[in-house]
Amino acid sequence: MLPQWTPLPLLLLLLHQSGAASFCTKADQCALGQEIKPVAVPVPAQARYDYTRIYQVELASEEHVRLFQALELASDSCSFMGHARVPGQKLTIMVTAAKVADFDDLVHSYNVTHRILNHNFQALIDANYREVAPEGTTPEQFDWKRYHPLESIYDWLDSLAKKRPEVVSLLDLGSSTQGLPIKGVRIAFGKENLTSVFVESGIHAREWIAPATATYFIDQLLNSEDPVVQEMARSHNWLIFPSVNPDGYRYTFQGDRMWRKNRALFGICRGVDLNRNFPFHWNVTGASGDPCRYDYSGPSAGSEVETQRIVQFLEHNVQSERIRTFISLHSYSQMIMFPYGHSAERVENYQDLKEIGQLAAQRIKDVSGRIYKSGSIYETIYPSSGGSKDWAHGHLKIPITYSYELRGPADSEDLFILSASEIEPTAGEAFAALQTIVQEAGKRGYYQ
Ligand SMILES: *[C@@H]1O[C@H](CO)[C@@H](O)[C@H](O)[C@H]1NC(C)=O
Ligand SMILES: *[C@@H]1O[C@H](CO)[C@@H](O)[C@H](O)[C@H]1NC(C)=O
Ligand SMILES: *[C@@H]1O[C@H](CO)[C@@H](O)[C@H](O)[C@H]1NC(C)=O
Ligand SMILES: [Zn+2]
Repeated sequence: MLPQWTPLPLLLLLLHQSGAASFCTKADQCALGQEIKPVAVPVPAQARYDYTRIYQVELASEEHVRLFQALELASDSCSFMGHARVPGQKLTIMVTAAKVADFDDLVHSYNVTHRILNHNFQALIDANYREVAPEGTTPEQFDWKRYHPLESIYDWLDSLAKKRPEVVSLLDLGSSTQGLPIKGVRIAFGKENLTSVFVESGIHAREWIAPATATYFIDQLLNSEDPVVQEMARSHNWLIFPSVNPDGYRYTFQGDRMWRKNRALFGICRGVDLNRNFPFHWNVTGASGDPCRYDYSGPSAGSEVETQRIVQFLEHNVQSERIRTFISLHSYSQMIMFPYGHSAERVENYQDLKEIGQLAAQRIKDVSGRIYKSGSIYETIYPSSGGSKDWAHGHLKIPITYSYELRGPADSEDLFILSASEIEPTAGEAFAALQTIVQEAGKRGYYQ
């Protein structure tokens, strides 16, 4: 990570070593399977959030709903966490310093009940950047007490595969839009004919707790001394990708801590929300057609390199690896959700997914006292389409499919900026819930 006080000249940083810079920002320029040349990426100036406020508003009426829908369209000084949809809804909005007077006036003029969750978001971000392990952290020093940049996570994965080649193999889905590898691991203790669990994490760049949790899962599966965990680790194979949006993740360290999408360039704005880009009921609801918005679904279904990498890997391996469980990790809101997101239509094993989800949430409550909600995405959080897990379930027919919204709670004051002291408890409860999901699905015959 670059310390913020370093003056950042606008120079071109060449990734890896290469003279030639080739831009590959659109899927059609990036033939799959063919290695993408390293891309020259400008070292960005760092976004700042001094005196940016976080408001939580309560929409009391249809009028309030329309008001905030109009505001979201009109103002890029207000970043919405979700969209205004229904009366009764609570909505979290980040308001830049230059607009706090206007925004405050607006909520008072229309009698909108509101709370200020944070008065100076930059202070949280500064504290969070101080919790990042320094450059040069070795795989031996890798831990869950700090956040780690992409390079350290990848070095750690490499070292696992070197140290325990009989159990761990390194997976690489190929290059991202900007030429970074998308690395993961396969953990297999060698029993035959097992089913596999696939874990996708970090598709939304700013949700740092997700890669931290995925690496914690890997560590537990390999190193736990708990016989129950050892037994579970050995009765499945595991395919785990901590950061499937490496360009975005890197950008949250160098450019903007609040970045969510990939880094593909479209006119004046960058980024497709990869979790709106999967080719299953693509772009039907809860996604934007505007590349400047945080939930841009992309120019077409599956347009993005990163989406294609995941799709190809899963299509290629779903039968041979017998992938029966698909988990994706996000934050925040404390939820364990299953398909669908695009409609209220119930999946065929809705009842099992609902019951297993409830047991997983109960497990978390027993472990840490935290309250997680469980239900379908459509019922639980908000309608959205093009998510990876809808595709994994609806298209690939992977029966046990969940996505987590990890800590903090839905009315969190920190949003995605979770203190590093929460990594271990968050990852620990998520892992306990994963055990419950796998055990319960096993009992119901999903792994035969
Ligand atoms: C806001 O509430 C005040 C006092 O309750 C009332 O007089 C006013 O008309 C309300 N304004 C709007 C826009 O609803
Ligand atoms: C694994 O599956 C194959 C093909 O179904 C079968 O021939 C083999 O006996 C199985 N091995 C074990 C250990 O169950
Ligand atoms: C995706 O949906 C949005 C919102 O309905 C629409 O404006 C946009 O044109 C759609 N994108 C494409 C490529 O069809
Ligand atoms: Zn997310």
